[in-house]
Amino acid sequence: MRYVVAITGASGIAYGVKILKELPGERILIISDMAKKIIPYETDLSVNDIEQLADIVYDDHDLFACISSGSYDFDAMVVAPCSSSTLAKISSGLSDTLITRAAAVAIKESRKLILVTRETPKSAIMLENELKLARCGVTILDANPGFYSKPQSVDDIISFIAGRCLDQLRMPHSLYRKWE
Ligand SMILES: Cc1cc2nc3c(=O)[nH]c(=O)nc-3n(C[C@H](O)[C@H](O)[C@H](O)COP(=O)(O)O)c2cc1C
Repeated sequence: MRYVVAITGASGIAYGVKILKELPGERILIISDMAKKIIPYETDLSVNDIEQLADIVYDDHDLFACISSGSYDFDAMVVAPCSSSTLAKISSGLSDTLITRAAAVAIKESRKLILVTRETPKSAIMLENELKLARCGVTILDANPGFYSKPQSVDDIISFIAGRCLDQLRMPHSLYRKWE
């Protein structure tokens, strides 16, 4: 299995890091410019530390990268966290970065695309962008944790969201305790 993981400049870099750590198979990583600036504010990791978790890393400006083409196969793409700006670009078909281009490819090739959006409250514009994409088959997975698993730490909360992403990819995990 081959996955594309994109980290954009919304709060919640830790979600992308956790997903990257837990995903099996080949992981292709893209980190947007804004995410690179936010990483030191939210985590104790460097950009390089996060890049070390992936098998392949592409620059967000490298539109010549293989994942820009529909002829290059990947199984699914997760954008975590997904900023409202990236959400808007994907929703309107703008593909001027590798992240937005790979997302456009995922949609046109009918591949699984999960957007872990993080903004609150959400404007009507953001909600309309999400609705438009949901109608195209994109999974809008809000960074919105449940508490029935009784999280004891921030890491438990992060694991809940990462676990819900893996659920969407039909991947077994023990990131949170499921309701029984
Ligand atoms: C510290 C910080 C936190 C931010 N958090 C969010 C957020 O949670 N959600 C969001 O939609 N935008 C957030 N932004 C704004 C985005 O970073 C900004 O819209 C940027 O253009 C997104 O670019 P990108 O999608 O290419 O990464 C934040 C910006 C900063 C500086």
